[in-house]
Parts: sequence; C-alpha cells; structure tokens
Amino acid sequence: MKIILLGAGGFIGANLTERLISDGKHDLVAIDIDSEKLEGSLGHHRLTLMKEDIRQNAGGLQKQIEECDLVVDLIAFANPSLYVLDPLGVFDLNFTENLKIAEMCVKAKKRLIQFSTCEVYGKTVASVLGKPPAEMPFPFEEDSSPLIMGPIKNHRWIYACAKQLLERVLHAYGIQNGFNYTIIRPFNFIGPRIDFLPSEKAGNPRVFSHFMNALLYGTPMKLVDGGINYRAYTYIDDAVDCIIRIIENPNQVCDREIFNIGTPENEVTIKELAYKMRDIFNEEFRTAGDPDPEIISVPSEEFYGKGYEDCDRRIPNVDKARNLLGWHSQHDLRSVLFHTMEYFVKKHRAEHGSGKTKA
Ligand code: NAD
Ligand code: UGA
Repeated sequence: MKIILLGAGGFIGANLTERLISDGKHDLVAIDIDSEKLEGSLGHHRLTLMKEDIRQNAGGLQKQIEECDLVVDLIAFANPSLYVLDPLGVFDLNFTENLKIAEMCVKAKKRLIQFSTCEVYGKTVASVLGKPPAEMPFPFEEDSSPLIMGPIKNHRWIYACAKQLLERVLHAYGIQNGFNYTIIRPFNFIGPRIDFLPSEKAGNPRVFSHFMNALLYGTPMKLVDGGINYRAYTYIDDAVDCIIRIIENPNQVCDREIFNIGTPENEVTIKELAYKMRDIFNEEFRTAGDPDPEIISVPSEEFYGKGYEDCDRRIPNVDKARNLLGWHSQHDLRSVLFHTMEYFVKKHRAEHGSGKTKA
C-alpha cells in the first residue's frame, strides 16, 4: 500500500514510521512540520518526507490523497497545557484542519485512520457524583460508554470535545456517504521520543516527561492537586503493534469501527507513578552526582492556569482489539517505565557525557 502519514514526525508517528519501514511492506509519505524524531528513518527508499504545515497546504494534499491507498491522521495539539493556554488553536487544528483532511478522503473515496483520544470519554460517573475515582472501576467501552465533559468554563475539555465532534462527523459520513474510516482512541501511550527533554523545549509536556526531567535535572516532581487521579499506561511498541493490525485491516474488520488501544492492567495514580519512577531510577540508573528530586503537590490552577479540570480515571476496555485483531499489550507497568526511562537516561548521558546506566 501507499500510505500517507500526517503527523509522522510526532511521538506516535515517528515510532509507527520506523516500524512500517522495518516491516518493508508499504510505501510511506510522511507529512509534518517537524522531522527531528524521524531522524533514524530519513533517507530510506520507502519513505518520502514532506516537511510542511497542513494549514498552508494549498490543494496539494488532495492530489496526494487521490494517489494513495490509505491516510493515517495523527496531527493534533496533544499537550493538556495547550488546551488551557490556546483553546482556539486546539479547536482550529484538532477539529477544523482535521475535518478538511477527512473531507479530502471522503472526496477521494480513500480509507482514513483518524487518531482520536481516550479523553473523549471525559470524566467518570463517580466524579460527577462527587465520589473518589477509586469508586469507579468500570472500563470505558467504545460503543456503549457515555462521554461526560465538564462545564464550558473549564476549557480543557475543548480538546476532547473537538476530537469527539470529529468522530461524530466521520460516523455521519460513514452512514450517509459510505465513507470508510477507523477511529483510534489511545490511552496514555509512553515510550522513547514521547516529548523533548529538557522539558522547556516541549513547552509544558506530559507527566512522564516532567517526572523524567526532574530525575535528570533535579526540578521537583510536581503532583497536580496531589496526584490522586489515575492513568493506565501503554508502551509505544505494543500500541504500534495494534495500529499496524488496524492498518492491515484483516477481512475489513476495522471498517467504520472505533478501537480503544490501552492496557487496563497498567493503572496507577499519578502519585504512585512519581514514586515508581523515582524507585526505578534509583535501582537501575542512579550514578553519583545525579539529582534527587523532591515530590511536592501543586494546585492545578498554579500548574496549568484557569480552565483546567482533570479526567479522574480512564480504564480501557480492549475486548474489541482482542477479539477482532487478536491484540493485547505485552508490557507491564514496570517494563513500560523502565524502557522509556532507559531511552531518556541514555540520550541524556550521551549528550552530557556523565554517568553510566546499570541496565
Ligand atoms: P505529537 O504532538 O507528538 O505529534 C503530533 C505531530 O503533529 C507533531 O509531530 C507535530 O509537529 C505535527 N503537527 C502539528 N501541527 C501540524 C501542522 N499544522 N502541520 C503538520 N504537522 C503538524 O502527538 P502524539 O502523542 O504523537 O499524538 C498523535 C495523535 O494521537 C494526536 O492526534 C493525539 O491527539 C492522539 N493521542 C495521543 C495520545 C498519546 O498517548 N500519545 C493519547 C491520546 C491521543
Ligand atoms: C494526555 C493528553 O491529553 C494527550 O496526550 C492524550 O490525548 C491523552 O493524555 C491520552 O494519552 O490519552 P493527560 O493524561 O491528562 O492527557 O496528560 P498528562 O499531562 O500526562 O497528565 C496526566 C496526569 O498527571 C494529570 O492528572 C495531570 O494533572 C498530572 N500531572 C501532569 C502531574 O501531576 N504533574 C505534572 O508534572 C504533569
């Protein structure tokens, strides 16, 4: 197949591109503003890189889509701090620009794999009832769970809402035009190249990167509002395995379907995550002279600004991926954290020339 990968230069895109290249089955057109994370793949004969901003693409993309077999759209602003700082920018890129891509696929009658998010599920019923997240053990299921967002004044939800509206439009094109799409809802993937470090380079990145930054540079590990909320982490290699199955679409089982990709067993509170990362660092990577960051709690308004509200708990139901694609993730939480931390520790030490990893 000839596959267009929009957002190939990002965390998921770069890992997916690398795997597709090593599988050697498909020709890839990678489109992104940034190609730094793609460095290991550049120059391969199956990869064409187009470094461009889709917002400035004046019609060329429609022609490229006409000439390909499949479009995979990963483009988005995907950092919660941006949902609070620039809600209109998030709406514009994550909805308006992505809708244009979807409409090009509808026009060209090409299959689209659209990256959405587990954030479309929003908050749990427990949080609406004012109960602690531990009292909400039900996993989110693609085709039956309600999608519960907070009030408009908490504009963090614009990300989830934009993604949800895009999903609804794809569904509508499916039923009214026979459009063929698959929607992926990732549940907190982590792995090599998740964000740039030191974290200032990534703006205000995702939590793993803040904690890794703390362990390498000695900034405090900040628990937003005490770190009581939960996330379930999936290793990027496991996620990519599932994405490849969705791309290959055996017996067209993915047509017009939504897939959760996640690892329910890898659930942890953010407070536990901080302590686990610090323990793994001390056991596996610590060398003399490494900083020993403190773990502190900070109010969310101080950390993100006004308009932030958190998702309390996100447990994926992954029966659909297991039953239709035979997929289940292989890495437990310790392994997810160890491999991701190892990548950043080695990179840091290669760049700064200090210390040795024990691993
Ligand atoms: P990322 O930020 O690393 O990648 C997004 C890529 O899009 C970046 O390389 C960026 O340069 C590119 N991009 C942004 N604006 C662009 C533009 N105007 N023109 C061209 N390229 C542009 O994010 P990611 O973590 O790889 O996420 C990929 C997708 O998966 C996103 O849609 C995100 O919402 C979704 N997602 C990711 C996760 C996760 O765990 N990483 C979870 C849920 C959803
Ligand atoms: C992220 C992003 O929205 C997207 O990448 C994606 O859509 C989604 O996860 C997903 O992976 O499915 P979130 O998990 O809230 O959302 O993002 P993080 O920045 O990683 O925050 C996780 C939790 O850690 C939140 O409770 C946050 O308040 C907390 N946090 C964050 C801290 O306690 N300390 C920090 O330094 C940073």
